[in-house]
Amino acid sequence: MTPPLIAGNWKMNGLRVDLGEARAVADGVARSTPNARVALCPPATLLAAMAQVLAGSPVLLGGQDCREEPRGPFTGDVSAEMLADAGARLVIVGHSERRTAYGETDARVAAKALAARRAGLEPIVCVGESRADRDAGRAIDIISRQAAGCIAGALADGPFAIAYEPIWAIGAGVTPTPAEIAEAHAALRGALIDCVGAPGRDAPILYGGSVNPGNAADILNIAEVGGALVGGASLKADDFLAIIAAV
Ligand code: PGA
Repeated sequence: MTPPLIAGNWKMNGLRVDLGEARAVADGVARSTPNARVALCPPATLLAAMAQVLAGSPVLLGGQDCREEPRGPFTGDVSAEMLADAGARLVIVGHSERRTAYGETDARVAAKALAARRAGLEPIVCVGESRADRDAGRAIDIISRQAAGCIAGALADGPFAIAYEPIWAIGAGVTPTPAEIAEAHAALRGALIDCVGAPGRDAPILYGGSVNPGNAADILNIAEVGGALVGGASLKADDFLAIIAAV
């Protein structure tokens, strides 16, 4: 069974002065040998510097997005190969903030996940329903369809993860009930097996959306929750380390 993955998504936060938090995470992980793999996904501007901070540490470096082409006339974009060149081992694709702000479709997210695979990166593919979808009873249908549209069979050639991130829980200080998380993760497990066959049994299914030191243990104990994608609470090493210790 793949060990749980706790990934911190710094989003558009962090300057060089904040690299001390990454160093503190690396030091804390070195002291405690957690039961999880740990990753930090800083903004692209900090990747190379954070790679140096994390050198020799088991804490993995990740990107927050990649474009699907390896190179070309795409002003402002970053390819999976560039992330790998900067020291990244993983990349988040299909985060709802990108789906919303840039209109990224499932097909686009699927292409990004395959680009990650091509570059040797482990993709973390995000899915999640809106508040309106949940209220209308469509949550499971929506996330199952997102998973089917974003997870190509070829992803089974290497490690990948999926993250269930209800949009209404992100940065909101609220989370679904344990039963709602369990139902979503069970549905995603089925969808993963449908998409890639047997390797879909092992891919970690992370939960993301307002994970904090106070709720992490309860969430991480839910069946089929194979880790967490942590936004706000990953910016402070003490909070992030407390979440890691909850695995
Ligand atoms: P949050 O963000 O932990 O701040 O809710 C999670 C995410 O968007 O990945």
